[in-house]
Amino acid sequence: MRKQIAAANWKMNLTYQQGEQLIDDIFNAGIHLKEYQQAVFAVPSPYLVMAQSKLSAATNYFVSAQNCYAKKSGAYTGEISAEMLHSIDIKYCVLGHSERREYFSESNQMLAEKITICLEYDITPIFCCGEPLNIREAETQNSYVETQLRESLFRFDDEQLQKIVIAYEPIWAIGTGKTATTEQAQEMHAHVRAALAKQYGGQVANDISILYGGSVKANNAKELFACADVDGGLVGGASLVAKDFIEIIRSLK
Ligand code: PGA
Repeated sequence: MRKQIAAANWKMNLTYQQGEQLIDDIFNAGIHLKEYQQAVFAVPSPYLVMAQSKLSAATNYFVSAQNCYAKKSGAYTGEISAEMLHSIDIKYCVLGHSERREYFSESNQMLAEKITICLEYDITPIFCCGEPLNIREAETQNSYVETQLRESLFRFDDEQLQKIVIAYEPIWAIGTGKTATTEQAQEMHAHVRAALAKQYGGQVANDISILYGGSVKANNAKELFACADVDGGLVGGASLVAKDFIEIIRSLK
């Protein structure tokens, strides 16, 4: 079974104290994670060390950064590097979230550089892709997402690619309460996997976890995660409420 992941994306929410409480509440719920299941918390940068110290001893719980910069180090005020994340033992980094693409002009090319440096430091990128509403309405979402994959991922070799997690997040479903139907999610996930298979072969494609993101809630996670090519979710709003995210983790296959 490939990795099944429930990833919380807190975005720019919660105080430090609220964040501590949320992690405690979720962790203390005593969820039994199977060996191939993981719970990941993408927390704001100032909370990384706190979250890491709470979860580092726990099996299958991981802390993620929400972004990092493409350069190794230097005069880049305000940025954080993969080397810094590595130095505090962070294993995941969300890259290319649509909010970063939109508000911080992150391009497919820039994301390829960020992925490169994360891999160098043994950090698994959670690479986000997904189409805006006008592309979905024009029914050109498959080629749109394929371009994102090609321009950001297809320069990596088999071994590197297998260290990447993909999150398909249709932009029209993020924070809108408008979830993709299970058919829409499965269709795109299968398309992404087929594109990976074409480039890297079926074996590699089959091993890659592809998460769904966009209004995943406690009451729809189970049916979304049950889709054959959906390997869990990247969850914004519902990850801020302990009982909801607990239910979402419990919905993993
Ligand atoms: P949402 O956000 O669950 O609030 O729609 C998902 C995301 O942006 O990763």
